[in-house]
Amino acid sequence: MRVVIFGPQGAGKGTQAQLIAEKTGAEHISTGDLVRAEIKAGSDLGKKIQEYNDRGDLVPDEIIVEMAKPYLKETDSWLLDGFPRNQAQAKALDEALEDLGIGLDAAIAMEAPDEALVERLSGRRTSEATGRIYHVEHDPPPEDDPGPFTQRKDDIEESILHRLEIYHKQTEPLKDYYYARGILVSVDATRSIPEVTEDVLQAVGEDG
Ligand code: AP5
Repeated sequence: MRVVIFGPQGAGKGTQAQLIAEKTGAEHISTGDLVRAEIKAGSDLGKKIQEYNDRGDLVPDEIIVEMAKPYLKETDSWLLDGFPRNQAQAKALDEALEDLGIGLDAAIAMEAPDEALVERLSGRRTSEATGRIYHVEHDPPPEDDPGPFTQRKDDIEESILHRLEIYHKQTEPLKDYYYARGILVSVDATRSIPEVTEDVLQAVGEDG
């Protein structure tokens, strides 16, 4: 399975990619997680990209492409979450896959209106222990996850609205890009988490 999953911030890309990876054994590659790990490590690169992340801006294409590329060849089954996010990155991904002699099976567009997303992101919590994503109301942490549960720095309203603006300008046009390639699948992300998981599994042909 080689799948790209994209959609507006808070649509549930990370939530679904984690669940699908657990169910199918595919690797979950999240460029957002790679960015946050680099920042947490305090590396020179982390210091350079922190301001982009905290503002809700995209990290420059050449940096993010170099961060993502090594993961593509580690396994032959993966879900790319949050990459590509614009036409230049989509082309860079195509070139990298061509060099590896592999192709994309599907590009899943998670669809949800902006109004629903600010509330989802404001209530998001991430477990420091397991990396699992939760929501204080829609998906509270289970007792066996010890936490602690933290709020992302970029989950403040100002940054969320800025990220959504960038999504509509730069990432949403990728729907046309993948539609033209015949691999676009749209999923209604306003349904409950388990319902969306079913839809995504069906979209990638892993529904049993
Ligand atoms: P990234 O980590 O990818 O963040 P994002 O794009 O802002 O997306 P989110 O993680 O906010 O949304 P999501 O759809 O994954 O939502 P989630 O599943 O958590 O990127 C962060 C930053 O890194 C970027 O701003 C940029 O600086 C940089 N970056 C990353 N990739 C880059 C790239 N390619 N190029 C350049 N820069 C890049 O769900 C959200 C909440 O909703 C959770 O609380 C969840 O529990 C809840 N929820 C999920 N589904 C449902 C549902 N169906 N019903 C109810 N609640 C739900």
